[in-house]
Amino acid sequence: MVRPMFEPWGGLLLDAVAPRPGESVLDVACGPGTVTRRAAARVGTSGRVVGCDLSPGMLAIARDKGLVPDGAAIEHAEAPADRSPIDHECFDVVICQQGLQFFPDKPAALAEMHRALRLGGRIGVAVWTRIEQCPPFAAIAAGVTEVLGEELGARYRGGPWGMPAWDELRDLMQRAGFADVDVRPQTLPVVLDDGPVQLIATLLGGALAHEVIALGAEQRRRLEAAIARHAEPITVDGEVPSQMVSNVATGRR
Ligand SMILES: C[S@@+](CC[C@H](N)C(=O)[O-])C[C@H]1O[C@@H](n2cnc3c(N)ncnc32)[C@H](O)[C@@H]1O
Repeated sequence: MVRPMFEPWGGLLLDAVAPRPGESVLDVACGPGTVTRRAAARVGTSGRVVGCDLSPGMLAIARDKGLVPDGAAIEHAEAPADRSPIDHECFDVVICQQGLQFFPDKPAALAEMHRALRLGGRIGVAVWTRIEQCPPFAAIAAGVTEVLGEELGARYRGGPWGMPAWDELRDLMQRAGFADVDVRPQTLPVVLDDGPVQLIATLLGGALAHEVIALGAEQRRRLEAAIARHAEPITVDGEVPSQMVSNVATGRR
């Protein structure tokens, strides 16, 4: 799912903060390194890029990808976003793509990002809006609720889509001390070319992975059928062509 969901968004977020050759970039909750690597290409060999994440598994995937051709070497650090090992005021740019909504202490995480930036440095933060604005994932949520119950349905909705309000994002950033905070909803197309099968596969990489893996064959079949049925109105010739909407916030220290 990285290619259709996160790659194009990484380009959009980097356009918003415009890292230049030779600059330093911190990617908070870097995951498998999708945006980190794009940032490394933009700042080039004279730049510096650090990716931080809580998950050793994600960092292992990121490290395994190796060097970015003509890009900055990437350093990785295993750390929670609200207790970062980063020195004060040493980055020109901080980015955080689809991470903030998962942090248990969002003000502390943003305070750490603020601390990491040089005076005048830029920040870019992306957080999905309401799940209803991302129809393929709303179809999954409806299928999960129908077959596995309200509690798991709410847990699914509340993960990646758990911080949809643009003004909450703005207020958090302003309270962390960022200036010129601007939050805009952005829309990009997403095409799931394997259709509902690909939708169901995303469940194995998300918050309900354990529950889905533990399902018996009959319940798994019911879940797949329910998701396919909820996705039927947006399925065209076996594909799910749709869109995702994310709030993209920028600011500066
Ligand atoms: C949806 S992924 C986004 C990854 C990456 N930014 C991207 O766009 O491809 C969310 C990431 O947040 C990380 N994460 C969740 N809670 C965290 C925390 N408290 N501190 C640091 N990283 C965290 C997860 O390990 C995961 O890699």
